[in-house]
Amino acid sequence: MTYTIHLIAAARPNFMKIAPLYHALKKEAWAAPKIIHTGQHYDINMSDVFFQDLGLPEPDLHLGIGGGSHAEQAGQVMMAYEKILLETQPDMVIVVGDVNATMACTIAATKITYSGKPSQPSRRRPIVAHLEAGLRSFDRTMPEEINRIVTDSLADILWTPSPDGDKHLLREGVSNEKIERVGNIMIDSLETLRSRIESLDVYKEYKLSDKGYSLVTLHRPSNVDNPEALGALCRLLVKLSAKSPIVFPVHPRTKNNLESQGLMPLLKNQPGIMLLEPQSYARFMNLTFHCKMAITDSGGLQEETSYLGIPCFTLRPNTERPVTITQGTNRLCTIENLETEIDNVLTNGIPVRRPIDLWDGNTAARVVTSIRSCFEI
Ligand code: UD1
Repeated sequence: MTYTIHLIAAARPNFMKIAPLYHALKKEAWAAPKIIHTGQHYDINMSDVFFQDLGLPEPDLHLGIGGGSHAEQAGQVMMAYEKILLETQPDMVIVVGDVNATMACTIAATKITYSGKPSQPSRRRPIVAHLEAGLRSFDRTMPEEINRIVTDSLADILWTPSPDGDKHLLREGVSNEKIERVGNIMIDSLETLRSRIESLDVYKEYKLSDKGYSLVTLHRPSNVDNPEALGALCRLLVKLSAKSPIVFPVHPRTKNNLESQGLMPLLKNQPGIMLLEPQSYARFMNLTFHCKMAITDSGGLQEETSYLGIPCFTLRPNTERPVTITQGTNRLCTIENLETEIDNVLTNGIPVRRPIDLWDGNTAARVVTSIRSCFEI
């Protein structure tokens, strides 16, 4: 018997999370993994280049739901995915991360009723599993926090990356049987592509030296949608670039806002700041491997730098990934204290770092084992 398993991907950080699982499931005779791309990220360099880098085939289905308000994105994904669910009747739906489609597909899949599945008459809807469950920033002004809470409260299986995830879910009343700690799937992608990443010399293309520059990424609405915050951040980057060069691949949300706020020339005219288009996975990771430090508000980069032992300064008041602070190299900063924090770390070094349990490149294998036991294979 083959089990149809939908892997939902919508936005850039999702592609690195579904890729290891897709490849692992493809090797199993009992599994028929299908990639469903909802379309939230649609630019070639936000989506297609990731599929190429990660060795993913064209999505089996593309819903074509692009930008829009949160309700528009979520509503349209639910409507489109509900039809797909009824037509294809998957046995399992796997959602990853915390983007709008993660929540929308979870709602659609947990509320669906199949009209009758001949192979599995007792199964009236797919099993819904969330990979990267249990993360909490406790900041409900973040759209991702709402997506996490809704997804985790509905999903049948909750695969967590770290002990804090288990703890949060248990505190929210999730039963222990639903929770399984599997580790961090992003590290699987990194380790699988390590030799390719290391073979690139992206930083040299920009005439940078190894460990001689800072890597900046910023796209959180709290940092880039507020003109005052964005202006202050730009002036801070200009100041920091006088000490050490900055490489800044600019996310579309940030680019739009820099342009509409008239801030683009301020950054473009600085000799120490290199503004790049969004980079492919392997190119971006090469820039990460060789940077002196990262300054970011991304969730994934907090994890990757912690794993690699590279100092990371996160421009946010909180993180849903606290293990990157307690065991990794991450520090939460404000616009006001970033420069001092950087100087502290460069002078005194990062406090002792401990490897994070199950961040080892074998998460996809553990997820496959979990799916096997779920289908009693
Ligand atoms: C989304 C996720 C966020 C994730 C981030 C990674 C939610 C709530 N947010 O935020 O968790 O960290 O992706 O990148 O799901 N745009 C383009 N081209 C694209 C994609 C987007 O021009 O390929 C534009 C959109 O039209 C929109 C803006 O960029 O104007 C923001 O995109 P959106 O998908 O709303 O959210 P992100 O900020 O990317």
